[in-house]
Amino acid sequence: MAAMIPIPFLQSRTARILAEAASKARIAILLAQTDPSDKGRILYLNSHMEKLCESSGEYLMANHRMNDLLCQNNTGQRILRTPSGKNIPVDVVTCTIPIETPPPLLYYIRDISEQLHTERQLKGYSENLERMVRQHTRKLSTTLESLKETQSQLIQSEKMASLGQLAAGVAHEINNPLGFVKSNLGTIRDYFEDLFEVIDAAEILENNLTSEDARKRAMDTLTRIRTRIDLDFIREDHRAVISESLEGMERVARIVADLKNFSRTESPDAESTDIQECLESTLHIVWNEIKYKAEVIRDFEPLPRVLSSPQKLAQVFMNLLVNAAQSIEKQGTIHLQTRILENSIIVAITDTGSGIPDHILPKIFDPFFTTKPVGKGTGLGLNISYNIMQQLGGDIDVDTTPGEGSTFRVHIPLREP
Ligand SMILES: Nc1ncnc2c1ncn2[C@@H]1O[C@H](COP(=O)(O)OP(=O)(O)O)[C@@H](O)[C@H]1O
Ligand SMILES: [Mg+2]
Repeated sequence: MAAMIPIPFLQSRTARILAEAASKARIAILLAQTDPSDKGRILYLNSHMEKLCESSGEYLMANHRMNDLLCQNNTGQRILRTPSGKNIPVDVVTCTIPIETPPPLLYYIRDISEQLHTERQLKGYSENLERMVRQHTRKLSTTLESLKETQSQLIQSEKMASLGQLAAGVAHEINNPLGFVKSNLGTIRDYFEDLFEVIDAAEILENNLTSEDARKRAMDTLTRIRTRIDLDFIREDHRAVISESLEGMERVARIVADLKNFSRTESPDAESTDIQECLESTLHIVWNEIKYKAEVIRDFEPLPRVLSSPQKLAQVFMNLLVNAAQSIEKQGTIHLQTRILENSIIVAITDTGSGIPDHILPKIFDPFFTTKPVGKGTGLGLNISYNIMQQLGGDIDVDTTPGEGSTFRVHIPLREP
């Protein structure tokens, strides 16, 4: 039981009531002397203090002072040192009680060992949690890396697949100039033979200049040959035949270069890009898909070079151009428009094809969504194109009217190279 203290106030009825209440508190309460001559003497303590110290109030008051019961450890934590040598971490609140001069000090001492224990446990949990989060984040980022890798492989294989589908058309585009160049070479060979005949006759004439008779015969032969081979026509035509052949060879060289560029595997996402050239070179590759179906109308605004990926843009343009051509059943037009709008370059590809019905529109960018028969569509074109544009920091959107046609708009960020 708490002891009674020889301070007049503490003998009072109020004090007894307070002491009675304090005896039931689950917090240690003490009153200690502050007078320098008797500093730290315990005047009163409640039963919770006795419990904490595992000693009776009389014993504590007789043998201890506040300064040897309360101290601080090296981390600054207040400690209650019990007579049996236990160190209990505590929270201490003090206030003076003006019942005497100097006023004694009232201590509220709360055992916080359980709270500290819980805090330590919580800290352990949270460190554990942080470690787990770090581990998962590491795992997630490797997964993300491998997903990115898979995505770029997917983009590459879609490109190769669409090239595969276009291969016959591309072969045709190459075959056509090859055909006329071959036939032109035949013509040139004939021209050469005729010219050598003229040269031979001229040589004979040259060797027979002295005999009047022989000279006349040689002259007749030369005139006959000249008339037969129509030298004037050869003179005119050979230029046309040769320049047509050169132009044909240039077409072949160009399409081979376009193909080589298009199928390049390593392509940085940020190189100096001429968008119009990229569009033209893609048109070349898909020309055979378009030329029987649509007239292509160009409406190009002069564009600055931008930092982007010509390979990836070409893949997007190819998908949109082939889709546009495929949407036209018989004959139509494909409008190509380039514009600068705020911070983007817009490439709009408008067809006069079937348009896209409302119930299909929300699905066209989904992977594997196609309305085309096997062999014509994989359903990957728009999905891949959309992903490419996201990668390049741009976008694709579409406007369509069923029965009239569609406009696909590619937004390319205007970044200076
Ligand atoms: N220009 C267009 N006009 C009409 N429909 C289109 C057009 N472009 C795309 N679509 C529709 O979107 C679908 C998905 O296109 P895409 O992803 O390129 O796959 P695919 O061309 O292999 O079918 C097409 O099957 C078609 O129904
Ligand atoms: Mg397609």
